[in-house]
Amino acid sequence: MERKTVGMDDALYDYLLSVSLRDDDVLRRLREETAGLEWARMQIAPEQGQLMALLTRLMGASRALEVGVFTGYSALSVARALPEDGRLVACDVSEEWTAIARRYWREAGVDGKIELRLAPATETLDRLIAEGGEGSFDIAFIDADKESYDAYYERCLVLLRRGGLVMIDNVLWSGAVIDPEDETADTRAIRALNAKIGADKRVEAVMLPVGDGLTLARKA
Ligand SMILES: C[S@@+](CC[C@H](N)C(=O)[O-])C[C@H]1O[C@@H](n2cnc3c(N)ncnc32)[C@H](O)[C@@H]1O
Repeated sequence: MERKTVGMDDALYDYLLSVSLRDDDVLRRLREETAGLEWARMQIAPEQGQLMALLTRLMGASRALEVGVFTGYSALSVARALPEDGRLVACDVSEEWTAIARRYWREAGVDGKIELRLAPATETLDRLIAEGGEGSFDIAFIDADKESYDAYYERCLVLLRRGGLVMIDNVLWSGAVIDPEDETADTRAIRALNAKIGADKRVEAVMLPVGDGLTLARKA
């Protein structure tokens, strides 16, 4: 098929950010502090955070879920777009990385909206379902260990209301999804979920070349 999506070199990407990024001091400092960490590449792209905030507002979301917090950039972006009485349940296993997240959430004044649950995310999501959370979330973001992506996707679909949105990160996996030599567990898991969502009648979905690839799937 003829390609109509623009290729993006560094100069064009810098232009995109220069004319469209709504940045501020907290976001900038969180990016700078995270850039000093060994696993800095795990942080989402700034324009992706901005897109997720916009989607959160467009959805009129008040209940949000996040699987994979790291230093808190995506959670901060979404939490700021929630109303004052909105809630984001954020799942991670790392005390160390989420301590940085908490610091910036507090600074941004959104710490009261975020409930951080430190446990394997499948356990937290199963607990939310057991607590009666089925159909009670407006929006969810999946960005943790790739081998569990399918488990997270299935649980998020249960927890989302009809018309709710699940966003799945790293769906292009730096291009590894089309590398026939790459049969690592992470890559296979992402490929399998991409194929599954492509044909999943329970959702209406689109895969976007934003960041490392972002799928948006609306629960029918
Ligand atoms: C790609 S990072 C998340 C990046 C984050 N969304 C951001 O905006 O910077 C993945 C996170 O998933 C967490 N994680 C890994 N395995 C997990 C599990 N089984 N349950 C919950 N979180 C997990 C890691 O600790 C890490 O913080």
